[in-house]
Amino acid sequence: MKGVILAGGLGTRLYPLTHATNKHLLPVFDKPMIHYPIQTLVNTGIEEILVVVGGPHSGDFIRVLKNGQDFGIKHLEYAYQDSGDGGIADALRLAQDFADSDSLTVILGDNCTDADIKKEVKNFKGGALIFLKEVPDPHRFGIAELDPKDKTKVIDIVEKPKKPKTNLAVTGVYIYDSNVFHHIETIKPSARGQLEITDVNNIYIKEGNLRWAPLNGFWSDAGTFESLYKTNVYWARKNFGKEEKELTTF
Ligand code: DAU
Repeated sequence: MKGVILAGGLGTRLYPLTHATNKHLLPVFDKPMIHYPIQTLVNTGIEEILVVVGGPHSGDFIRVLKNGQDFGIKHLEYAYQDSGDGGIADALRLAQDFADSDSLTVILGDNCTDADIKKEVKNFKGGALIFLKEVPDPHRFGIAELDPKDKTKVIDIVEKPKKPKTNLAVTGVYIYDSNVFHHIETIKPSARGQLEITDVNNIYIKEGNLRWAPLNGFWSDAGTFESLYKTNVYWARKNFGKEEKELTTF
């Protein structure tokens, strides 16, 4: 198992902050945002990580992450996404050579979680595994619908639905076998001009090869001003040992 962090895209939702630096290098309490997904991967025992970067500040990642030794990473590699906001699946396809037929645990660079996914990584047998989390604002995310007769099965995922059927968000934490690259080749850009990871996941669903697990712990997608602020508050409270109250997701 290898790890991939997707930190491409332009972070336009965080303009003007992201005019001067990359979204994933913005502070989340006392660390750059990208430290959090890296730590999640390192905690599983993964030792080889690819970071997909993009946009005008890509060079800054090397100054922050260097060769990964500070995190205990044995092999840290970078890839550059040249298409701007080409989409999550477009960024992931740059990992094909790195994967070299191994399975991949993939985390979006703006996803900050303290969930432990070691068990799921160790027990992964193939296909795709997604991690779901109940959220109060489902219109912001890919939303999963479960089979009413068998809740262990996901029957559909809709990207940012106007009328969400559930509040089960597909978090930006995924495990894929190497078929993911074949599936990416078969999808077309969405209405927003991006290759959507949701389309890839729906292919695994149609094949009967997608499973899900709950993401236990705090999780946030820190890609908006509100969620970036709340994510900072969560980690500050956690670090200061203050009461976490009902904060489990933003
Ligand atoms: O956070 C979870 C959500 O992330 C999922 O529920 C959605 O299904 C998924 O589409 C995604 O939605 P977002 O709209 O939040 O994705 P966003 O465009 O903010 O991109 C998330 C990260 O993916 C970003 O921080 C870096 C990476 N990315 C994104 C794009 C568009 C790339 O590496 N390249 C890209 O071209």
